Amino acid sequence: MIDLTSSSAAETERLGEIIASQLNRGDVLAFVGDLAAGKTTMIRGICRGLNIQQQIESPTYTLVNEYVGKIPVYHMDCYRENRLEEWLELGINDYFFGEGITLVEWADTIAELIPDTAIRIWLNHNLSTENTRQIRIEALETIEKRTIDLFKIQ
Ligand SMILES: Nc1ncnc2c1ncn2[C@@H]1O[C@H](COP(=O)(O)OP(=O)(O)O)[C@@H](O)[C@H]1O
Ligand SMILES: [Mg+2]
Repeated sequence: MIDLTSSSAAETERLGEIIASQLNRGDVLAFVGDLAAGKTTMIRGICRGLNIQQQIESPTYTLVNEYVGKIPVYHMDCYRENRLEEWLELGINDYFFGEGITLVEWADTIAELIPDTAIRIWLNHNLSTENTRQIRIEALETIEKRTIDLFKIQ
């Protein structure tokens, strides 16, 4: 587990890009954090790191946005739809255990469905400073170490 501080949206995006450089097919990332904590912002950085050219927005009319890049990326948001049966029916396990990378916003609302092996990312507002976010990442130790090293030298 590592704790980092981001001082701007651009920094959170860059952190996403750093994480992207260590991702592989089949990886699942579970994002937890309040509204405007920066989940979608970090996902933009991840997608940039994966050479995705499409516009990245939280899925609204659909439950899953699919992006085409170096590796397919599936972007889910569980804020409105938190019924496990709905997600199972949609084939969420096909996404999780498929050939792409799956990014889940509000993952805590479907916690029971998130694979144990998922990389977990928490984002929190800092009450005293508007553009500061506390970010906690739980991943394989190798990924955690490399993320810290790369984030420091930015
Ligand atoms: N350090 C920061 N990291 C991420 N976003 C930040 C930061 N500082 C300010 N922001 C702003 O907060 C908002 C985060 O929105 P968004 O990424 O859509 O959040 P979420 O998906 O968690 O609801 C954006 O308007 C962004 O510009
Ligand atoms: Mg969002």
